[in-house]
Amino acid sequence: MIEIRNLHKSFGEQEVLRGIDLRINDGDTVAIIGQSGCGKSVLLKHIIGLMQPDSGEVIVDGVNMSTAKPRVIEKIRQELGFLFQGSALFDSMTVLENVTLGLREHGLRDEKELARITKEKLALVGLHGIEERMPSNLSGGMKKRVALARALATNPKYMFYDEPTTGLDPITSDQIDGLIEGLTAKLRATSVIVTHDMFTVERIAKRMVFLHEGKVHFDGPPAELNASRNPIISLFLERYRSPLTLAR
Ligand SMILES: Nc1ncnc2c1ncn2[C@@H]1O[C@H](COP(=O)(O)OP(=O)(O)OP(=O)(O)O)[C@@H](O)[C@H]1O
Ligand SMILES: [Mg+2]
Repeated sequence: MIEIRNLHKSFGEQEVLRGIDLRINDGDTVAIIGQSGCGKSVLLKHIIGLMQPDSGEVIVDGVNMSTAKPRVIEKIRQELGFLFQGSALFDSMTVLENVTLGLREHGLRDEKELARITKEKLALVGLHGIEERMPSNLSGGMKKRVALARALATNPKYMFYDEPTTGLDPITSDQIDGLIEGLTAKLRATSVIVTHDMFTVERIAKRMVFLHEGKVHFDGPPAELNASRNPIISLFLERYRSPLTLAR
């Protein structure tokens, strides 16, 4: 279980998170939505311990991510799979090296085993025989898949997807959505999807968390969000459901 209590974070004068309270139960499929710049990625980075709160707490499986010993946090990190916004593959490393990065960090050195895991995870995302290719020779959709394979490499208990379809064409977006949907069902990992692509989340998430002005403005099932008469929510839904999105 992930618990976020009264989380505050500012950058200089800019107050980004102004008291976030959120509980993510094991098995949840949660979407975090909100307009660009509202702090979605910042919130995710706190959950995985890449950013430290100004105040408040992030607790993952009972471990406080800002006060626990590095050794304990390192252990928890293995449970967290993260698909970064923009894939974030290392250009100077092969696909295999990228996928196995986390495993090597956790001390796995057996090359045969690393190759086996890479093959298995690439197959999960629909890729075969590209272990030795460099990221520069992959399409945008393939890069996303490789990044996804990397996130899955440690068999995480929690999966975080930050804008999984941004920057992809509609057909590739559909494929990635389908892949995430399938993985969510198959792996039974707790999934947190951050996006402003309403189509993605309506297809996958069972629960919507809408951030606005640094706080959780709505938390509930998609149908309830859609039926909301709250003007801020209505405006968001109107703006972010572009005609293109509806057509898909
Ligand atoms: N390391 C940082 N230093 C300073 N400001 C930052 C930093 N990280 C994020 N910010 C600021 O915090 C705000 C929230 O950023 P964040 O990346 O979380 O937005 P977002 O909701 O993920 O947006 P998008 O949908 O465009 O990805 C932005 O105004 C951003 O400029
Ligand atoms: Mg973001």
